[in-house]
Amino acid sequence: MSNQLLKGKKGIIFGALDEKSIAWKTALACHAQGAEIVLSNAPIALRMGEINKLSEQINAPIIGADVTNMDDLKNLFTESMKHFGGGIDFILHSIGMSLNLRKGKGYTEIDYGFNQKTFDISAMSLHRVLRTAWDMDALNEWGSVVALSYIAAQRVFPDYNEMADAKALLESVTRSFGYHYGVKKKVRINTISQSPTRTTAGSGVKGFDGFVNYAEKMSPLGNASGEDCANYCVTLFSDMTKMVTMQNLFHDGGFSFTGVTQAVIEQMEK
Ligand code: NAI
Repeated sequence: MSNQLLKGKKGIIFGALDEKSIAWKTALACHAQGAEIVLSNAPIALRMGEINKLSEQINAPIIGADVTNMDDLKNLFTESMKHFGGGIDFILHSIGMSLNLRKGKGYTEIDYGFNQKTFDISAMSLHRVLRTAWDMDALNEWGSVVALSYIAAQRVFPDYNEMADAKALLESVTRSFGYHYGVKKKVRINTISQSPTRTTAGSGVKGFDGFVNYAEKMSPLGNASGEDCANYCVTLFSDMTKMVTMQNLFHDGGFSFTGVTQAVIEQMEK
């Protein structure tokens, strides 16, 4: 169902790798609500080629950018503004990568070189994106920026490893830049703290299936799906939520505020 909530809005969506990606689903939802979109991802992800399908489906150009490279980001914003013929109304930052997780290094034995790279890709990249937009005055007034986070930023999930620290940093950048961009241009910046979702990045976490099942049992509404997350992003990009900024918004079926559920008690009594 479309209410054309984003009619006339123009946005950049980072991170659509394949059909499972939260960014992919969000691009479809934003398009269905009337938005015009530019898709971006790292050059290595573009070589996979999957994103071309999405590009055709929603008639959106693809402009590659490694989010740790300021020249790439500058080029992305320049080309996007040319394509749109003006400023940008919304950005989805749907990017995450842990080098230590990839290399199988546990939290107590992380390599600090990898760790720096993880923080740069997964957290400081939001600062880099915002800084580029800021320097180029690329975002329109009342623009909206959303990044994706996970509850391991606040509570311990041991196998989430260094990504917990990366998400804590991401949420902090959201607040800090949210202040400055709010004052300067009424741009709002929020994170959505999403339920575990079966995607490429998600499945990289050790014991992910157990994670998903546990969260499902611990959430009064069950886990929020990627499609649900996409719809939530649409509301945050729309003018209906224009006074919401600098928040970490839990989108998790109630998981974050549940101590225990009957389903978990029954499981423990078995
Ligand atoms: P995904 O694997 O589909 O998306 C991650 C994206 O990050 C990929 O498109 C990848 O190409 C991109 N990326 C990695 N390095 C990059 C770089 N240097 N430059 C530009 N792009 C780069 O997985 P998913 O799950 O859709 O992830 C999206 C976001 O959602 C991430 O921030 C993730 O941490 C977050 N999230 C995911 C959850 C899950 O359970 N899947 C739960 C909560 C948050």
